[in-house]
Amino acid sequence: MWRASVLTIFPDVFPGPLGASLAGKALAAGAWSLDVVDIRKFATDTHCTVDDTPAGGGPGMVMKADVLGRAIDATAADERPRLLLSPRGTPLTQARVGTLAGGPGAVLVCGRFEGVDERIIAARALEEISVGDYVLSGGELAAMVLIDACVRLLPGVMGAEVSAAEESFSEGLLEYPHYTRPQLWEGRPIPDVLLSGDHGKIAAWRRAEAERLTRERRPDLWAAFLQRFRSGSRTG
Ligand SMILES: C[S@@+](CC[C@H](N)C(=O)[O-])C[C@H]1O[C@@H](n2cnc3c(N)ncnc32)[C@H](O)[C@@H]1O
Repeated sequence: MWRASVLTIFPDVFPGPLGASLAGKALAAGAWSLDVVDIRKFATDTHCTVDDTPAGGGPGMVMKADVLGRAIDATAADERPRLLLSPRGTPLTQARVGTLAGGPGAVLVCGRFEGVDERIIAARALEEISVGDYVLSGGELAAMVLIDACVRLLPGVMGAEVSAAEESFSEGLLEYPHYTRPQLWEGRPIPDVLLSGDHGKIAAWRRAEAERLTRERRPDLWAAFLQRFRSGSRTG
């Protein structure tokens, strides 16, 4: 079973949205498991202190390496990747999500305040992962993002498995547009081709739209797609 262990000072926010819809049903059905570890339980003083002032001065507080070390040691004795949610980390991609979903699960350390004592990262071999180029107040939402993205790829979690193969990023392209009834809404029709019943034409239209949207909105993805396409045609 795919196992997520989340280390946080806000254990009550879990499972949050992970308890609803696809992820929640899969959790209840035992397709994955979630252990939430309260980092404060590993503090040794009467105030359950998890943070201290930054060495060298400056604003904010830093999560203590000794407390985090005990929390990680009590949780992560297995082979699962140990991830620290961090805006400094490697950006999370659908490809990485696919790799994580194909593994045994993940141990996720949620930072707060100014972040964690740098020494814990090397000492416990934490890999820093970012969910985007912006700063959240804490790693909990980022951990939920990562877990949700992984869980929906687990076998049997998504209703139609084919939808994972077609959606944004799976082939390096953004997904094509969707429509549903009514056929005409506020003067805007569903494109004729989608009502034609011609599956070949529909597939070609969707592919062309996926390419157009990627080219227009994400030149970075488009360039990478073209690169792969060209090297694929050279080798193939
Ligand atoms: C306020 S942030 C710390 C930001 C840090 N001082 C900096 O400038 O890089 C507190 C915690 O939120 C989490 N966090 C914030 N933004 C994130 C992001 N984009 N991706 C993943 N985690 C993030 C991290 O766990 C981080 O330690």
